Amino acid sequence: MSKAGRLVVLVSGSGTNLQALLDASADPSYGARVVAVGADREGIEGLARASRSGVPTFVEKVGDYATRAEWDSAIAARIAAYEPDLVVSAGFMKILGSPSLDAFPVLNTHPALLPSFPGAHGVRDALAHGVKVTGCTVMLADAGVDTGPIVAQEAVVVLPDDDEKVLHERIKTVERRLLVEIVGRMAREGWTVSGRSVRIGNHTGGEST
Ligand code: GRF
Repeated sequence: MSKAGRLVVLVSGSGTNLQALLDASADPSYGARVVAVGADREGIEGLARASRSGVPTFVEKVGDYATRAEWDSAIAARIAAYEPDLVVSAGFMKILGSPSLDAFPVLNTHPALLPSFPGAHGVRDALAHGVKVTGCTVMLADAGVDTGPIVAQEAVVVLPDDDEKVLHERIKTVERRLLVEIVGRMAREGWTVSGRSVRIGNHTGGEST
């Protein structure tokens, strides 16, 4: 069973999911704390949030490397330096390569109910399809685009006047709460993966909390 006390969080933008994890981990009983924040670009609010919390940061830009494989190795090395139990890709707009995926468990969050609407425009694509219910998904990352084993999902109703921005903000309110809950439970209770099935906590005793 894996446990998740030390978190490295990866961001590409505003970092409100990161902020929710920073806020939760201020309480020692949460069971996990953010030990570093990484990004694929400079000048983003996510990095500023980390600095304001006194958390070390690093930036690895794909464009600084001759090949994607070199970036994959470089970011894996930066992450490894902080010895994470769990890497959280929270609005990180890159797919990690095998140097990271083979070395650490990576949790990802997505603003749609996978396997519907994977990719960078999950909210826009759900709206364009005319769905009446969408939501958010927390999953373990694999080499695909939002294809890893699902850990948790929560539904959000689409309202008639929603545009992408309004709907995404409503989803993000749910997404932050779900991510904080799941990371905390993974840290405190551990988790196991069997094929596509992810279970939090030890269920072998027949009773779970
Ligand atoms: C989240 O909805 C995440 O799922 C998506 O981008 C958003 C990031 O928000 N990929 P933030 O940077 O955590 O505020």
